[in-house]
Amino acid sequence: MSQINQTFKETFCSSDSRGSIVEEQLQVTTYAKPQDLIITRGSNAKLYDDINNKEYIDFTSGIAVTGLGHSNKKVAEIMFKQANSLVHASNLYYTPETLELSKKLVENTKKYEGQFDASRVFLCSSGTEANEAALKFAKKHGISINPTKQGIIAFQNSFHGRTMGALSVTWNAKYREPFGDLMPNVTFLNIHDDLAKLQEFISSNKDTIAGLIIEPIQGEGGIFPIPAEKLVGLKRACQENDIIVIYDEIQCGLGRTGKLWAHSHLPKEAHPDIFTSAKALGNGYPIGATIVNEKVNNALQIGDHGTTFGGNPLGCAIGAYVIDTIADEAFLKSVTKKGEFLTNRLTQIAAKYPGQIKEVRGKGLILGAEFIDSPAEIVKNARDLGLLVITAGKSTVRFVPALTIELENIEKGLDIFEQAIAKTFT
Ligand SMILES: Cc1ncc(COP(=O)(O)O)c(C=O)c1O
Repeated sequence: MSQINQTFKETFCSSDSRGSIVEEQLQVTTYAKPQDLIITRGSNAKLYDDINNKEYIDFTSGIAVTGLGHSNKKVAEIMFKQANSLVHASNLYYTPETLELSKKLVENTKKYEGQFDASRVFLCSSGTEANEAALKFAKKHGISINPTKQGIIAFQNSFHGRTMGALSVTWNAKYREPFGDLMPNVTFLNIHDDLAKLQEFISSNKDTIAGLIIEPIQGEGGIFPIPAEKLVGLKRACQENDIIVIYDEIQCGLGRTGKLWAHSHLPKEAHPDIFTSAKALGNGYPIGATIVNEKVNNALQIGDHGTTFGGNPLGCAIGAYVIDTIADEAFLKSVTKKGEFLTNRLTQIAAKYPGQIKEVRGKGLILGAEFIDSPAEIVKNARDLGLLVITAGKSTVRFVPALTIELENIEKGLDIFEQAIAKTFT
């Protein structure tokens, strides 16, 4: 064991053989973490706990973040090189890396069938911040037409982040209600309602609604792909009523579905006015982006928004490499292939457990297996057997491994998943 791990063990762990963490008082009470797992290093789709001498296949990739794998050597090289050149200079000045990433985001988006009129980028440091910017931009656009045009439409099962604006458009009441008054004028619609009913709501409230925000595949809510015809119809109604459409691609974007963006699967008429990205964009380094068209940018003025860290050269140098790697036909095809393999095997597992697994859904490498009851015990059993998976919504196990995961590790991970189900139900 390395000196650093030995020191950690002596300082924070109990002396029993399980080595569980005893020093819990140091972190605020917001996460329930397993006591017997301390991640010390990672390599592509594997994580290691050198304190407890355990190895895990990782189907979580840090919640859809390390798309190009843990400890990606090229990313490490770029970080080292850039850190020795320039880490931060602020948004007061131009830096080559910031412009380069913005150019790559816009150009690759257009080339790979994403937002057809993408034109400008706001860079920040997280997903929730990318959505804050999107909401502010949509509101500014609405107010420029009519001062009452400020409201936002969001959807049931949505997740957009934890800061006050993004939280206001996040569906789960457990996340919102403890914090009292949030951003006003948010309406949560049900995507399963008839399109005509949704469109009617939009047109009859056009004077008070500035924007509509939606994940093309809802992630945290339970891996629910939104039907293309709904997105086409919503965009049409919004366009007719001067309402800005925002797609949150923070979890489902950047190659996860086998195309650069989830909305790259949609016809042009359903493309958004704004879309947001984060998570995989820095492969673990915190970075976010809000990509807009000229219509949105025309409503903005100098001073309307800002950030200290956003667009720093270190994050942008990494982001440029991530985009270059993912926006490659062969890479995207490999994601589709792996996704099909994972889906087929999950469907076979579901067929063996019809009383427990309700549905397998998703696209590419953003997949969910919905159980009849809470899958918390399956997740725990999988962990004990050497596989990390997370839940989404109340009853879905989510599969978001590194896009670079080896087929062999998908197979091994699914063998463990199947054993965990068997252990839970026998
Ligand atoms: C769809 C979506 N939007 C926004 C966020 C918030 O991103 P962050 O945690 O980087 O603030 C998340 C995070 O899980 C997400 O899945």
